[in-house]
Amino acid sequence: MVTGKKSSNNLGKVLPFSLSQVGGGKIIAVTSGKGGVGKTNISANMALTWAMEGHKVLAVDCDLGLANMDLILGVIPNYTLKDVLFSDMPVEDAISQTPMGVDLLPAAAGEEDLANLGSEKHTNFAQILKTLRQHYDYIVLDTGAGVHSNVTQIASIADFVLLVTTVEPTALSSAYAMIKILGTQKEKNPIGVVLNMVSSGREGLSAWQALTSLTRRFLNSEPEYFGHIYQDSSVPKAVQKTYPLVKIYPRSPSARCLQATAAKIRIALGKQKLRGGMVTARGAEGHGREVIRWS
Ligand SMILES: Nc1ncnc2c1ncn2[C@@H]1O[C@H](COP(=O)(O)OP(=O)(O)OP(=O)(O)O)[C@@H](O)[C@H]1O
Ligand SMILES: [Mg+2]
Repeated sequence: MVTGKKSSNNLGKVLPFSLSQVGGGKIIAVTSGKGGVGKTNISANMALTWAMEGHKVLAVDCDLGLANMDLILGVIPNYTLKDVLFSDMPVEDAISQTPMGVDLLPAAAGEEDLANLGSEKHTNFAQILKTLRQHYDYIVLDTGAGVHSNVTQIASIADFVLLVTTVEPTALSSAYAMIKILGTQKEKNPIGVVLNMVSSGREGLSAWQALTSLTRRFLNSEPEYFGHIYQDSSVPKAVQKTYPLVKIYPRSPSARCLQATAAKIRIALGKQKLRGGMVTARGAEGHGREVIRWS
């Protein structure tokens, strides 16, 4: 672990913005209906995968109630998003360069006031992200779970929403609810789905088919499938070691899946294939037309 630098008097070293004006990076929100489905693990490792490919990446811990991206990325932050939003700290002072090659804007864990941001602070936060995107290729937002407005508002700031679910009926139902709510928002951001903790690719694909048979029928929409990630003991092992999966077990089944998902998203964003609103997954095979009930 390294301690995030106190940066106000050392800004050039901590955050060389002037050297990296890449402009107009993509903002990706990683979210879920149900908690504990793997958002933080996916966000941190996806951010890291892109950074390892040479992109400039910022991970933002938006799970304002249960922040823990700092643990996975190996930093003990001095300052957090709370200081930016409530104490007018310049955002660059709260960003840490992690030893992993990703910059991190951490959140303060267990802050009730942060977990329930009002609309004014949300607007402020959206503004901050718009400024930050000028300095990064990708900004990955790790959000909390659930359909409450805090999470959906954060998701609405993004260019693309990656919805994480498992094959569990409760997770799929919550994912459906999330797609429904995101579809009612003013900003209709493209949504992609990733199936985490699957025992096989077939299991992931059939869960996605079950989900999209409902979204097609009742929401007239079909989020794109961005693949599956295997249930893999390497994930908790990496968490235990407070070291990111794709660094410590890069050849594990889950890391390979994560890298494939990250590549697919990067390519989709690069081609600007993702349209506003829901994305139709023409590439996915064997869509079931029937409504599959999972609860
Ligand atoms: N593919 C996987 N295989 C095995 N375990 C996994 C996998 N993905 C995540 N986990 C484990 O599941 C637990 C939850 O993961 P994580 O914290 O990333 O979920 P989350 O969606 O961010 O949770 P929360 O909603 O609380 O923020 C962790 O213990 C993690 O190690
Ligand atoms: Mg999390």
